[in-house]
Amino acid sequence: MPHLQSLPSPNKLYVAMVGLPAMGKSVIAYKLQDNLSNLGLSARVFNNGEVRRRLFPENTSHAEFYDPNNAKLVALREDIALINMYEAKDFLNNESGNVAILDATNVSAPRRHKMIAHLSDHPILFVECRNHDADLYAASVARKTKLSEFAHLSTEEAQASFEARIRHYRSIYCPLDTDGSGTDGCPPGAKGPENYVIVDSLNHRIITEHLLNEPPYYGLLRDLLVSDWVKGLSLIRHGETEFNREHRIGGDPRLTDKGRQQARLLAAHFRDRHISSVVTSTLRRTREMADILLEGRPEVERYALKEFDEIDAGVCDAMTYDEVRQLRPGIWESRKADKYNASYPGGESYASMKERVERGVKKALYLSGNAENLVIIGHQAVNRMILSHFLLRREEDVPYVYIPQDRYFHIVSTQSRKLVELLPF
Ligand code: F6P
Repeated sequence: MPHLQSLPSPNKLYVAMVGLPAMGKSVIAYKLQDNLSNLGLSARVFNNGEVRRRLFPENTSHAEFYDPNNAKLVALREDIALINMYEAKDFLNNESGNVAILDATNVSAPRRHKMIAHLSDHPILFVECRNHDADLYAASVARKTKLSEFAHLSTEEAQASFEARIRHYRSIYCPLDTDGSGTDGCPPGAKGPENYVIVDSLNHRIITEHLLNEPPYYGLLRDLLVSDWVKGLSLIRHGETEFNREHRIGGDPRLTDKGRQQARLLAAHFRDRHISSVVTSTLRRTREMADILLEGRPEVERYALKEFDEIDAGVCDAMTYDEVRQLRPGIWESRKADKYNASYPGGESYASMKERVERGVKKALYLSGNAENLVIIGHQAVNRMILSHFLLRREEDVPYVYIPQDRYFHIVSTQSRKLVELLPF
């Protein structure tokens, strides 16, 4: 019988991230760390890249450094991984840590075997991140290539170098749910580890769950993996346009003087507040709002998503509400009877735009890392939908939610805090 002292402590866990670069691993790793810490657990991320930059401050960003056929460099990278593992081990055993999160690609079977061998003192849960959205992949690569380690390269060179790095990782990638056939990048007969979960990191969905013995904190971790995590989202509607003044719907109008004044008040309100990223629709009124908000703030990341374009009014686009009532009474009546489900011919209903707006929310949260100080600038119908995503409104009430142009919604949604407040600017 093993001596009591050598039994693994039931409240300690290694979480080992797995996934190709730009799959959202670090976002999830920090989301776990922050949420677990908020719940009173001691959790810390251990990132291989940080160890590499700490030990080798000279340039290791070039793609050849990741070439799996260069034995010398492979050995060096394995040493870095091992140092990171032992720092994580020390945290659990000597610093009263509860959860050590190992953030690295860990895509090859030999690397994972090494982790299992060296981290045998506590259970390991492997978490593989997947994300197949081309826009997000491009945005993640663009963000990586802005890191200081690429500063000596032009944007194109940095991008080419990072993509070559990804190809090297892809050549040794063995998915956790290998079928053992030897045709999926894993050695023939390979098996996944005892405990793993594969997540769609954009949609916060669990793709596969494989548990031979449930590790500590698993219920909590699984909930965190599937939850939106919004540390601070400001949901803003664009300022006044000529169309708003005339009660005209749709179109692509610009802001009026009053609308630009509203944007300046917004900018003044946010002057001393940190903004990490701003996501607009692709329409001019939201982009103009962002231009004014971000004057003199070049460090803020900006994205324009089609998913946040205003409800498509189809044949009624650019009509006033009065014109719709007089010229398209059928549409007017059907909106009155069931505004949520009534579709504009050739356009959308609230019901049919729900899916794309929700996709936009997921993309915005993903792009902003952990939605800390994220600003979304949208439209009346789109903002109703976004707000309802957090407020769980009844569908029939969504088209009547009040979305003013001189106030904004501040939203927090984490494991321990849910808040939606309407604030003036
Ligand atoms: O009036 C501004 C606007 O954003 C229009 O472009 C859009 O059709 C409308 O609001 C959506 O609100 P409702 O569904 O109440 O007409």
